[in-house]
Amino acid sequence: CPIAVFASGTGSNLEAMLRQQHHNPLWPARVVLVVSDKPGCRACDVARRAGVPVFAERVSAYPDKAAFEAAVLAQLRAHGVAGIALAGYMRIVGPTLLSAYPRRIVNLHPSLLPAFLGRQAVRDALAAGVRETGVTVHYVDEGIDTGPIIAQWRVPVDEGMTEEALLARVHQVEHALYPAVVGELARMWSAEDRARGSGAGSR
Ligand code: GRF
Repeated sequence: CPIAVFASGTGSNLEAMLRQQHHNPLWPARVVLVVSDKPGCRACDVARRAGVPVFAERVSAYPDKAAFEAAVLAQLRAHGVAGIALAGYMRIVGPTLLSAYPRRIVNLHPSLLPAFLGRQAVRDALAAGVRETGVTVHYVDEGIDTGPIIAQWRVPVDEGMTEEALLARVHQVEHALYPAVVGELARMWSAEDRARGSGAGSR
């Protein structure tokens, strides 16, 4: 099942998915395109090194966000993308992409949603003094970190833990959980498209 990964940063979760693609012959997804709004980001290098096509453009290079998303959509269609996994993509997905890929865009968030929304979820969890936080995979809707939850995994917080140590623990869980869940979703998406008698080309 052809998928796109959207990333703006380090790309460690992209790497985790590409590892599956490389080593696990049964992984149902295939990363056929990486989309980024940060042309110089490490995730772009990770993709290029793996031979995955990259579409990396600044939104400011377009008249507006809708025009940027229209350009992204053209790329998604050209690559036959059936679903999208956001992995550290630091932009809100707009109506152009949401309506082209209903229930086919998922995100990874470093907390047990609905706790700790937003960009600093790990830091906020530490500051709140909780004994456990976690990782959530959810469908993307028009809100920020609000779509229906697909999977969660708990991460314990030790007393006096540093942010760095907690982040490392969260990432470790993400790198196991996200490829597994994205693989299952990809299996479902390709079954749906087969039943509908339509590939991603009809999107
Ligand atoms: C992850 O912690 C994810 O939960 C959040 O952004 C981070 C991306 O990390 N949405 P990376 O770029 O995959 O290393």
